[in-house]
Amino acid sequence: MRLLIQGGRVLDPAHGVDGRLDVLIENGKIARTGENLSAEGAEILDAAGLAAAPGLVDLHVHLREPGFEAKETVATGCAAAARGGVTTLVAMPNTRPATDCPELVKLVREKAAATGVNVLPAGAVTVGQKGERLTDFEALREAGVPALTDDGVPIQNLALLRQAMREAASLGLPLLDHCEDRDMVQNYAVNEGAVSRRLGLSGRPAVAEELQIMRDVMLAEDTGAHVHICHISTSKGVDIVRRAKARGIRVTCETCPQYFTLTEEEVLRQGAMARVNPPLRTQADVDGIRAGLADGTIDAIVTDHAPHTAQEKARPLPDAPSGMVGLETSLALALTGLYHSGVLSLNRVLALMTSSPAALLGLGKGTLALGADADLVLFDPNEAWTIDRERFASKGRNTPFHGRSVRGKVKYTISRGNIIYQEG
Ligand code: DOR
Repeated sequence: MRLLIQGGRVLDPAHGVDGRLDVLIENGKIARTGENLSAEGAEILDAAGLAAAPGLVDLHVHLREPGFEAKETVATGCAAAARGGVTTLVAMPNTRPATDCPELVKLVREKAAATGVNVLPAGAVTVGQKGERLTDFEALREAGVPALTDDGVPIQNLALLRQAMREAASLGLPLLDHCEDRDMVQNYAVNEGAVSRRLGLSGRPAVAEELQIMRDVMLAEDTGAHVHICHISTSKGVDIVRRAKARGIRVTCETCPQYFTLTEEEVLRQGAMARVNPPLRTQADVDGIRAGLADGTIDAIVTDHAPHTAQEKARPLPDAPSGMVGLETSLALALTGLYHSGVLSLNRVLALMTSSPAALLGLGKGTLALGADADLVLFDPNEAWTIDRERFASKGRNTPFHGRSVRGKVKYTISRGNIIYQEG
């Protein structure tokens, strides 16, 4: 099987490549890149006017299966990934049962195998994500998990967390941590601040996130573990990571389009559709996240794709579940909010969505180097379009970006040389 992608603007941030080139794919691998390649018998894909980059690597996705198939299945989540240009994703373990043993890791991988998307289930840190007893990290590593996390359920017990970091460090597994002190945030729906006061609701304070980031940084230094802070949302949180990195501590972090695009005000307009954990914050936080992306403190842009049913999201704000879908909008939102607005170069946006997240977890993905898996996204970086949740492949329609005008449209997604999505 040979595929020749002709005439696109090829961007491979890991190797500083940015030029009008052809890419030849053979047997699912990158065989050659260069000008005016010819390859007899190859299928031709005309990429004139398009950018061709490594397939996106999303470190934070909730696929919901097993247990919550009304929200999403592995198949529908992977279809959404393909539509969004995502070829590799890390699946969060807050399924039912939780992904806390090799059998469940295997189950998710088997369900994903037919989709063409490279799904890597993360293993739970504690049995059933209950925060009481550590899972068998070694067995999970053997089953192929790239990292450990109790995402969605922050770990409160510091002795247990320290033990987890020690064991994770000894096995070379990163620990991905959702930072929000549970006692402080309870099941509150919005950021603590002007909007929560206006709505007469208790809020989730920024300091609940920042304290756990600080705690994680200190434990990372103490244990030598690689701690990766999930979906960072506050300016001060970014600053804590910035200073920790300067001290040589093994801490990395990610953020999501919602945190560099929206503020807590969105809750006043869209209610539960804008409910997410951690919550949307203030404009100063949005600015701080953008600064962290610009100076390299933030290592990755992920989605925290968190589908919920329409009925669930129709509940009153205090009772609705938190989360928003993101797989089908992340590239456009990143291009619109960061590249077209002049915050980052196109190359840098793509690095944050491909080579950098792949390198964090040592996935061997996110590059167009010779011999690499032929995972690519082909997109028009400039095309203007309007986000329409009714067209999503995801079962989840819970996006606060419905109706928003964006620029940057995915045209083809290629995974191991196979076209797994083509527009129209
Ligand atoms: O808003 C969120 N939803 N944040 C999380 O950490 C979990 C996620 C979910 O699973 O719905």
